[in-house]
Amino acid sequence: MNPIKFYKSEPLPLEFHKVRIVQKLNLVPLDRRLLAIKEAGFNTFKLSTLDVYLDMLTDSGTNAMSDNQLSAMMQADDAYAGSQSFEKLRKAILDVLGKKYVLPTHQGRGAENVICQTFIKPGNVIPMNYHFTTALAHITASGGKIEELLCDDALELQSDNPFKGNMDIEKLEQCILRYGVENIPFIRMEASTNLIGGQPFSIRNMMDVRKIADKHGIMLVLDASLIGENAYLVKLREEEWKENPMEEIIKMMTSLADLVYFSARKLSSSRGGGICTNRKALYQKMEALIPLYEGFLTYGGMSIREIEAMAVGLYETLDETIICQSPDFIKFMVTGCMDRGIPMVTPPGVLGAHVDAMKFCSHIPQSQYPAGALTAAFYLCSGVRGMERGSVSSARDEQGNEVPADVELLRLALPRRVFTLSQVKYAMDRLEWLFDNRKLIGGLRFTYEPPVLRFFMGTLEPVEDWPARLVDKFRKDFGDSL
Ligand code: F0G
Repeated sequence: MNPIKFYKSEPLPLEFHKVRIVQKLNLVPLDRRLLAIKEAGFNTFKLSTLDVYLDMLTDSGTNAMSDNQLSAMMQADDAYAGSQSFEKLRKAILDVLGKKYVLPTHQGRGAENVICQTFIKPGNVIPMNYHFTTALAHITASGGKIEELLCDDALELQSDNPFKGNMDIEKLEQCILRYGVENIPFIRMEASTNLIGGQPFSIRNMMDVRKIADKHGIMLVLDASLIGENAYLVKLREEEWKENPMEEIIKMMTSLADLVYFSARKLSSSRGGGICTNRKALYQKMEALIPLYEGFLTYGGMSIREIEAMAVGLYETLDETIICQSPDFIKFMVTGCMDRGIPMVTPPGVLGAHVDAMKFCSHIPQSQYPAGALTAAFYLCSGVRGMERGSVSSARDEQGNEVPADVELLRLALPRRVFTLSQVKYAMDRLEWLFDNRKLIGGLRFTYEPPVLRFFMGTLEPVEDWPARLVDKFRKDFGDSL
């Protein structure tokens, strides 16, 4: 975003913050990394942070907080009911998201639970641009199913389409005709479609979705967890919005939705979540579930300190120099990796740099989880923890059959203002080494598979002893280097 020109060097994503509190990191030796990934069942969720050098698992709850957020946390008005901290949050949500009625939840999935339990009946269908794991799990638990209506080329991983998160309007019309308005309680739009590489939708597209929703009298729900980054990419990529401040772009997006919900772990660099709306009747329908599942209506399962941090973090979402940091680093990483021949998801999206594991590991059949294998192999050779976003993250169908994911990705999250550019360059260097040695990576199979959200707790093992091969080659090339 920054317009700063360099004299001789290539332009860099220059940071608009300074680092004043730091946390020490360790890069444990290769032998320990091998043992650690085995102990973790080749599932990076199960690694201890003591064994992780750069934690690129997620940006969820790991974005750096600002000095203003930390100082706000010291002024928290701890009260079970009627806390003034909640009043600050209410005001921040009105100012930033333009919604009057606020229901706090302990995190994004708490909001999904409340929305799904309130509005979905068994047999209902939820059209959406694309699912997120927890949203799908709650919709299914409420007896609903989903229809994903992305534009045709959204799953082409290398593409020039600036808005791969757009919903296909024609497909939406057909979906409504097929299932009938009475079976569709709401349409869900997710800002920056997480699972297909953090790809945004355009304002024009959301306006078109709104028109269809209005025509049929269907509610429109926006998952705004990554709305700041989506708005930033709208500013960069959508001609009509180039001159508008972030505030106007965000308000336009939220004004098009009847209900907005979010994970504050992402949206406001804090923790927690919430649901907001301008329609009192919708608020009242959900209200009773908050004390039942989350906590009283003025804290919703969050600590009051987090509520203070969330209010400040929401205002900071309007600051382009803050919001640009992660997408600009991602662009740097994606472009650099592509230059080295590594297959990445393009255009660069938000949340993280995404590696196309199906291409990277084209020798591994999808039934042996190429993205899971790549994620484990990358940890092994770098100490960097990424996240599998592919078939391991997919749920089985109602008959218990495997459902191969549409895309197999290794996600390397770049939380806001956490890593330095040299750390990003280190990750790129190790990824290049792994790419040059990719044939040494083999497949995985499950040894323990929980029935719901299996990627969190499941364990796997290599189909043959490829980790040993990879370790040998690493030693040959890097000697005793970590
Ligand atoms: N919606 C989206 C788009 C998300 O990315 C997430 C979480 C949620 C909802 C659920 O929110 O975690 O606060 O309950 N995404 C995290 C991730 C887990 O790593 O991408 P939550």
